[in-house]
Amino acid sequence: MNNNIEGKVVVITGASSGLGEATARLLSEQGATVALGARRLDRLQSLAGELSHNGGKAMAIVTDVTHPDQVKQLVDTAVQKFGRIDVIINNAGIMPVSPLERLKLDEWDRMIDVNIKGVLYGIAAALPHMQQQKAGHIINVSSVAGHKVGPTFAVYSATKHAVRVISEGLRMEVTPYNIRTTVISPGAVATELPNSITEPDLATNMQQFYEEFAIPADSFARMVVFAMSQPEEVDVNEILFRPTRQEY
Ligand SMILES: NC(=O)c1ccc[n+]([C@@H]2O[C@H](COP(=O)([O-])OP(=O)(O)OC[C@H]3O[C@@H](n4cnc5c(N)ncnc54)[C@H](OP(=O)(O)O)[C@@H]3O)[C@@H](O)[C@H]2O)c1
Repeated sequence: MNNNIEGKVVVITGASSGLGEATARLLSEQGATVALGARRLDRLQSLAGELSHNGGKAMAIVTDVTHPDQVKQLVDTAVQKFGRIDVIINNAGIMPVSPLERLKLDEWDRMIDVNIKGVLYGIAAALPHMQQQKAGHIINVSSVAGHKVGPTFAVYSATKHAVRVISEGLRMEVTPYNIRTTVISPGAVATELPNSITEPDLATNMQQFYEEFAIPADSFARMVVFAMSQPEEVDVNEILFRPTRQEY
């Protein structure tokens, strides 16, 4: 199989559910080695066990992306165990949306910590290895909300705009190192993401929206495969996709 995926070592944050989990499955099926990070170690271990059982190579490490030392440990352990890191997918994220007037300052902080700083810590952990290798691919997860804003989405949307800005700045800086950068912005995809909404009225609305519109998580995984499987000289910088029926 010469799909430019087989044999690659891919670190995925937020791999315990949703987009990260689906991506780990598809990449493993296509011959990649996956290093899985998230806080729920039981879910990571069960996924790694399933992938190994099916003939893949996988490892799981408990990782809270708000702690730079834990993200570094995830990446360094993958490099020690598998010899290199070809791709990092900075995917961990939360979406506790609410109107600003409800003053959920703790949730604003949390979104900034996980969605922005978590991505930066992933870049910090992977970049030195990739610079040394003169090869690598950094994939960051933004959102349709990284392109548009709406009521209740101000802070989440700001974090996802930040991810796009960071990705573009990174892209320009890493060209001398032969490192590719991709930002992927999904619309509604069926995952546990709406569970992070704590305001009951908004949680109900979002659950209904997801039930009506969301598409399966392997849609995202296929976008990752598309970007990764291009020849190394081709850098897919940005992918925006939605359910066909989603107007927003
Ligand atoms: N689903 C969508 O419609 C959609 C649309 C646009 C963008 N996105 C983005 O896609 C990404 C993945 O979300 P998802 O939809 O797959 O939702 P999900 O099913 O809730 O998955 C989120 C993942 O992030 C992990 N996570 C949360 N906080 C973390 C932390 N502090 N440290 C490490 N991992 C953490 C969770 O694992 P633990 O709880 O085990 O740590 C989980 O694995 C997010 O960045 C999200 O903003 C999703």
